[in-house]
Amino acid sequence: MTLKVGMLTSGGDCQGLNSAMRGVGKRLFENDPQTEVYGFLDGYAGLMQSNYRVMKPSDFSGILTLGGTILGTSRQVFKTMNDPLYPNRSDGPTKLEGMIRTYKDLNLDGLVILGGNGTHKTANLLSENGLNVITLPKTIDNDLWGTDMTFGFQSAVNIATEVIDGIHSTASSHGRVFIIEVMGHNVGWMTLHAGIAGGADVILIPEIPYDPLAVAAAVNKRAREHKRFSIIAVAEGAKTKEEAKMSKKEYAEKIGNLPFLSVAYRLASILDKLTVQEVRCTVPGHFQRGGSPCAYDRVLTTALGVAAADWVIQKKFGVMVGMVNNEIVGIPLKDVAGKVKSVPTNHPLIQSARNIGIYFGDEDLENG
Ligand code: F6P
Repeated sequence: MTLKVGMLTSGGDCQGLNSAMRGVGKRLFENDPQTEVYGFLDGYAGLMQSNYRVMKPSDFSGILTLGGTILGTSRQVFKTMNDPLYPNRSDGPTKLEGMIRTYKDLNLDGLVILGGNGTHKTANLLSENGLNVITLPKTIDNDLWGTDMTFGFQSAVNIATEVIDGIHSTASSHGRVFIIEVMGHNVGWMTLHAGIAGGADVILIPEIPYDPLAVAAAVNKRAREHKRFSIIAVAEGAKTKEEAKMSKKEYAEKIGNLPFLSVAYRLASILDKLTVQEVRCTVPGHFQRGGSPCAYDRVLTTALGVAAADWVIQKKFGVMVGMVNNEIVGIPLKDVAGKVKSVPTNHPLIQSARNIGIYFGDEDLENG
């Protein structure tokens, strides 16, 4: 029987979305050239509004190295909100009902969803409501529970590392302290990896709240030891020890409810008064999510994408296709949804970094 398969990308984009869809699409058509593939546009919005395009084998050629997503994406907060196709009806179908309606109208056999944390909550909801769902773990943050690795992560770490590499020469020329803000949402995987790969002197991650005075002391100690410069890699979600104790509301009030007030500049404004060297900031931001997937992500997405297609063919649904100990495994969606994979504070990489003198901002150092 010819399969009808839907596909969508949801949440923030990252490198590897197209190469993952290529793996799925090529495998499905390889299995049966008559397979019908429906690509929903702009994430769950496309599924809700039945906005899709029928995808041919040619759609999956020439996209291995392409950044972004050929289907478009969006961040959709919805749950029981009303279906936008019925804007004037308070009794209209919910968005969930809208998605189920499209799935049933098209008579789909399965739905392949590529996304991160938020996406997985919705994917699980759809699965709980009887849809045949398989997901692929996408995010530069690497914070999806159940898989060792998400695609996009290695590509983004490579970019963040190049930023740190590039900063070294100018930091050295001027003898400055540089703070480089790395993405990663509320976890420190990217900053830990890019910080180590780029040779940062200080790494600040959300899982280890820092003391700004101690960071200043560490930087001044380096200057006293005739180190010409210091590089601080700070995760966008890093917090001081004081901030970590605050409620969400108190924290929002403290930083002035300004979503664009970056942690790097907040830290710089403190360090500037305490360090003997000048302080500068670099915030590469969404640049870290752009461009081609690195070789690692091309391989990972091909393997995961092919596995997802195989599981659709075998009717193995309700799972995320993840990677554990270098093996492809299916992790039940109900286990993934709503959980975050943070960096364990006793992670061996943190210990290795500490053992070569990288400072995490948590220990008291003598101020200079
Ligand atoms: O989840 C990926 C990510 O890039 C995070 O690292 C970052 O906090 C967030 O998305 C930015 O979101 P947006 O694309 O909505 O600005």
